[in-house]
Amino acid sequence: MLQLVRSNRGVSVLALGIFLALSLSLVGALAQGGPATVGVDESDVYGAYLVDGGGMSLYLFLDDSPGESACYDACASAWPPLLTEGDVIAAEGVDASLLGTTERTDGTVQVTYGGWPLYTFVRDDAAGDVVGQGVNDVWYLVDPSGEGIGIAASEDEGATFAAFMDLGARVYSRHCAVCHGDEGNQALASHTAILDGYRRLNDASRTVRAIVNGRGYMPAAGADLTDEEVAAVATFVRNSWSNDHGLVSLEEVEAVR
Ligand code: HEC
Repeated sequence: MLQLVRSNRGVSVLALGIFLALSLSLVGALAQGGPATVGVDESDVYGAYLVDGGGMSLYLFLDDSPGESACYDACASAWPPLLTEGDVIAAEGVDASLLGTTERTDGTVQVTYGGWPLYTFVRDDAAGDVVGQGVNDVWYLVDPSGEGIGIAASEDEGATFAAFMDLGARVYSRHCAVCHGDEGNQALASHTAILDGYRRLNDASRTVRAIVNGRGYMPAAGADLTDEEVAAVATFVRNSWSNDHGLVSLEEVEAVR
């Protein structure tokens, strides 16, 4: 009996301890209290990039103006601004002279870096997640010099994609539509060749090989088309109608030829 009482008390002391610890961390989280910390993490793909005090990735928003956030309401729910009370703490690797703050319309204070207001992304679950990188071509990780990471590359890729879709449409109507149909949904009598919704198109190199070397009843087009035309028409069929499989690069075509 005595034993039972003692262990009960042990349990309730432990529970009280857990309760106190939880309430303290909850209060901390709710108030976002105190100064924010900006640090640096390293990724194999993106190199050095800024993170908050908990190691979560920080992003800039290309629609912002220097020192002024344009992200409110639904935007700010998806991309919570990095808020601070008092001076921002620069962890190792961060250029403290680039840190600053901007006041939001609700009076809270957001951290800036090189003038860019900083944000986290709700779909990043843990330190090291970079789910927000490149989203809508306006959200980018920030390097320690204050530049968005990968902006130029994605602009280049966007330009190539648009040019390939354009050229690809012309190649398609000249060489392919006769069998596959203008809408990619024409079935040949003996062999199905419906490209709209054809899931094997997700395999870029298989698609390129079919175009270059032919496949079954489909004639080889390799001799008639340049590498660029092959990449363009492959990009076109992979991203027309209901298809959405992304760019086929010139390098991928060269690898097949
Ligand atoms: C003479 C008719 C004909 C022409 C012209 C033609 N195709 Fe095809 N294509 C077919 C047929 C038939 C198939 C199904 C092949 C099979 O698997 O037997 C096919 C299959 C494909 C596939 C799927 C290959 C796979 O991975 O299974 C792609 C991609 C494709 N064609 C793209 C093109 C493109 C791009 C062009 C123009 C450059 C083109 N085709 C021209 C008849 C044609």
